[in-house]
Amino acid sequence: MLAILHPNISLDSEEYRTTLHYLEHLPGVSIRVHEVQGASQRLTEIYLLGETKSLNKEEIEALPAVERAIRISEDYRILGRHRDDRRQSGFTYNGVEFSQSNLNVFAGLCAVDVPEHVEMMMQALEDHGEVCTRMGAYKPRTNPYSFQGHGKGCLPWVFEKAGKHGIKVIAMEITHESHIEEIDNCLEKLGRPTGVMLQVGTRNTQNFELLKAIGRQNTYPVLLKRGFGITLNESLNAAEYLASEGNANVIFCLRGMKTEAGQPHRNMVDFAHVPAVKRLTRMPVCVDPSHSVGSREQSPEGILDVMHATAQGVIAGANMVLVDFHPKPEKALVDGPQALLMNELPAYLEDIRLCHDTWKKRQA
Ligand code: E4P
Ligand code: PEP
Repeated sequence: MLAILHPNISLDSEEYRTTLHYLEHLPGVSIRVHEVQGASQRLTEIYLLGETKSLNKEEIEALPAVERAIRISEDYRILGRHRDDRRQSGFTYNGVEFSQSNLNVFAGLCAVDVPEHVEMMMQALEDHGEVCTRMGAYKPRTNPYSFQGHGKGCLPWVFEKAGKHGIKVIAMEITHESHIEEIDNCLEKLGRPTGVMLQVGTRNTQNFELLKAIGRQNTYPVLLKRGFGITLNESLNAAEYLASEGNANVIFCLRGMKTEAGQPHRNMVDFAHVPAVKRLTRMPVCVDPSHSVGSREQSPEGILDVMHATAQGVIAGANMVLVDFHPKPEKALVDGPQALLMNELPAYLEDIRLCHDTWKKRQA
């Protein structure tokens, strides 16, 4: 069961103390307090775990600090969408709102290479009023001899450039928990010119110790990618690992599944699952058309497969698009063949807007 307290309740108040004391002494029940910072209010939620079947909902709702109680299912306790659950989805980070009803585009470099390319990318984003990007500094590679990313060495100049161009959130994959500190130390030293969303790649979806470490911090929201060879339920449970450790600011990213049947694309595009993830959980849902399609192939009408896939995701209600661009794809150090070109950015953004507007119009 979940007890949702009155908004902005003080944790020093008599009502809170009385409520907590009561809940702590319920036989066979353990509690977990969870703070949610929304755009305008702070919510305190108390999860009641263990022997909760015999608990009386009205009795919990009669406690002085409790606004309402809801029964939650076993699966995805924190991030899930439960019966009678009217809680809103999403969060605001560094001035940018992430929810199940809006859309943010994260166009950028798959891997940071040279300052000139990062500069060109960020300038183009600023020119089009975009405030988010993707920049890979730590790259998980199949081949140990492939370029592994510049690592912490590139962080200072990437963050400085982001600040200069008004970028508020950079999606940046990390592959080890020590990278959180590297990013945090660098941002702190520079006076936090930008924000970072920690990305967990498909190869690490079930790296539980990494998930727990990321979940233990609340400074940075998380973009968790669906595992490319596991079930959707297993990937959603991976997201719940983050929340169970304390960080519920999680966005779930569909990026295609590995299967021979997926040919000719790099992965089988799974964007029809956007509404399913929104139905099962309260997480905003991202799509990554670049890693799904994996090439610049196009239809006979001359439309890139990456654009077709993007349109499928956005029309299905996606809340974020993560997409690779590069000023000179032939020089890119990772995944150049799937990158879109800088001169394709305006049309790409316009197509996304059209699809998102159509999705909004379709709402009941
Ligand atoms: C890119 O972002 C990934 O690191 C890349 O897709 C990994 O694939 P590869 O190492 O097999 O090229
Ligand atoms: C990426 O987005 O840089 C990436 C490595 O993607 P994925 O984990 O989906 O392969």
